[in-house]
Amino acid sequence: MADTTITRLQARRVWDSRGHPTVEAEVHLACGAMGRAIAPAGASRGAWEAVDLRDGGPRFGGLDVLQAVAHVEGPIAKALRGRDAAAQAEIDGELARLDGSPRFAHLGGNATIAVSMAVLHAAAAAHGEPLWRYLAQGAPVRLPLPQIQIFGGGAHASRRIDVQDFMVVALGARSYGQALEMTAEVYRAAGSLMAAAGRLRGVADEGGYWPAFDSNEQALEMLTRAIEAAGFTPGDEVGIALDVAASQFGAKGHYRLALDRWERDRDGMIELLLGWIDRYPIVSVEDPLAEDDALGMMAFTRAAGNRVQVVGDDFLVTRADRVEAAAREKTCNAALIKPNQAGTVTAAKAALEAAKQAGFGTIVSARSGETEDVTITHLAVGWDAGQLKVGSFSRSERMAKWNEGLRIEAALGRSARFAGKAALRHAG
Ligand code: PGA
Ligand code: ZN
Repeated sequence: MADTTITRLQARRVWDSRGHPTVEAEVHLACGAMGRAIAPAGASRGAWEAVDLRDGGPRFGGLDVLQAVAHVEGPIAKALRGRDAAAQAEIDGELARLDGSPRFAHLGGNATIAVSMAVLHAAAAAHGEPLWRYLAQGAPVRLPLPQIQIFGGGAHASRRIDVQDFMVVALGARSYGQALEMTAEVYRAAGSLMAAAGRLRGVADEGGYWPAFDSNEQALEMLTRAIEAAGFTPGDEVGIALDVAASQFGAKGHYRLALDRWERDRDGMIELLLGWIDRYPIVSVEDPLAEDDALGMMAFTRAAGNRVQVVGDDFLVTRADRVEAAAREKTCNAALIKPNQAGTVTAAKAALEAAKQAGFGTIVSARSGETEDVTITHLAVGWDAGQLKVGSFSRSERMAKWNEGLRIEAALGRSARFAGKAALRHAG
């Protein structure tokens, strides 16, 4: 057996897809294996997620991460040297103990997630296995059903449109590879329609088109037309998934869509979304109400949860305790799993397991600030999450993750199974 004792930890500042500083960690083991991972960064962050530690001050708009880097090379390296990288839960427990705060405010969730994922990579490398296979430990796995962004909005496109993600789900795909092919056609068709209509303004932070629409609903119309133009039947072969990210424009039960000059209470917001679900082939809605609006989430799930997947992102922040509360209170029926919201791999896995236990859908997700790091694709397969959300179908920080899925599909060969539309909760 390879000696998986941690001998050395290194960190450095690298740069993400927005040109912002972020933390890369490298873990070296006695057997010579090495693991490396990079922390992603959100722009529309949940109030309860792990702290993304930034230096403040004049450099890079206050976004430098030299403290987080120093925490990896100082206290974290000291605590983890000599420990066994194969004991992920113990390593992650040690990170939580060392930090001592509920949200990694001292060490920085960006420091801890980079280290935690790097430890995981190192252990898999020591076993001579690809990460997804190391994680699965012989259990059956499926390639995930992708949610892929076509239009970007909200905090990812200077709020040019209020709803954050207009995505497609290839319901008719029989394989992961085919889901990507279908999405590629829709992405192309949407780009052509947008250009012809004079509404194309480049791409937003996650690679989806940056649209110049006159209302939020216009994006739904255009997306439905793009699905048809690509040769697919909306709702049958290709469905729409929304990330409303309502915490960005709503609080205390009050909601305001700037583009539509529209302002209402939670009942009005729910009514608006239900109208969209009636008129468009929507199969999944993420954060339909704000993170502080459990009553609204509950009412929306009661009204629409038997027809569409209701996903908690900012609402759950990849925390097992919040997922368990959501299962009790029926405030959603699916959980977005973002490892850096949790701060460690083990905490993210706990949230995923709690969601599965509750019968929720589970979607492993990237952040809007990403890099070449493809860990999440392996987590989606190895943990058999069923769904994967990475952003759009352009820009290499996104494509690296979709393409990694193709490699895993190829490695599985004839035994590759695809989660398909059955992975969605209550859609269709
Ligand atoms: P973020 O958004 O990474 O900017 O927080 C992504 C999402 O809301 O899913
Ligand atoms: Zn979200």
